[in-house]
Amino acid sequence: MPTLLIDRDDAVVTLTLNRPDKLNALNEELLRELVASVTTLTDDPTVRAAILTGAGDKAFAAGADIAAMVDMAPPQAKRFSDLGHRLGALLEQAPFPVIAAVNGFALGGGCELALCCDFIYASERARIGQPEVGLGVIPGFGGSQRLARIVGVAHARELCMTGDVLGAEAAMRLGLVNAVVPHAELLPEVRVVAAKIAAKAPLAIASVKRAILRGADAPLATANELEATAFAALFGSDDQREGMRSFLERRTPKFVGR
Ligand code: COA
Repeated sequence: MPTLLIDRDDAVVTLTLNRPDKLNALNEELLRELVASVTTLTDDPTVRAAILTGAGDKAFAAGADIAAMVDMAPPQAKRFSDLGHRLGALLEQAPFPVIAAVNGFALGGGCELALCCDFIYASERARIGQPEVGLGVIPGFGGSQRLARIVGVAHARELCMTGDVLGAEAAMRLGLVNAVVPHAELLPEVRVVAAKIAAKAPLAIASVKRAILRGADAPLATANELEATAFAALFGSDDQREGMRSFLERRTPKFVGR
């Protein structure tokens, strides 16, 4: 059985972490399958949105695989961490949105994987946290950095130092999760959001994703300049003309991704 399931519905791809008996713990095989799949999807211009979720009823991913890590020496641990970071960068740089559908435990590496996605929708059963300090380590797939950028430094410190696990509503109050939905409605709801984005102009979606990512770490004046350049670059595209003309002609636009 593959550790990653890939399901395509028109322009929307669902990636399902598939080690349910291990609560979808992230081992090297699963991380490599994710890297390969996201790379392939990134090269496919017909993909307009992706959803990342976990198999089974209990977990998105309960962390990096502790059994695989227990005897690692620093060089192996560095390679493992680098692999997680490579995956994170691929998810962040993909030209389509990746929505995390957190259907249960998202702990340690599972939380970090969700943080690499564009945004998170959570089932009311979600349990999210960075418990690594209880294992004698720290987050290794970007958690200490992305969490601080998303929820602020003080909340990131508290989560990473206490190892506390948040329920879905608490995670939403921090801004970690965008929406909490009943468990059975999580995937249908996320598919609606993915389809809504997939129907917009693809170059504009890729552009705004890149602008937000690149701008987040830049001074505001630099970030605004970056936005202006990205805004201007879309003019003259087929989809810019179609989008604006369709508005003026009071009809639904047909976008082609050019
Ligand atoms: N790595 C490796 N295996 C893991 C795992 C992880 N991060 N999380 C869970 N598993 C495995 C368990 O070892 C168990 O395997 P087994 O049946 O072969 O013994 C299986 O998944 C089910 O987990 P279990 O602990 O029995 O489920 P539970 O419902 O009692 O508890 C959790 C669920 C999430 C509270 C608990 O599994 C847990 O604390 N996991 C580790 C969380 C963590 O520290 N993550 C950060 C890692 S860096």
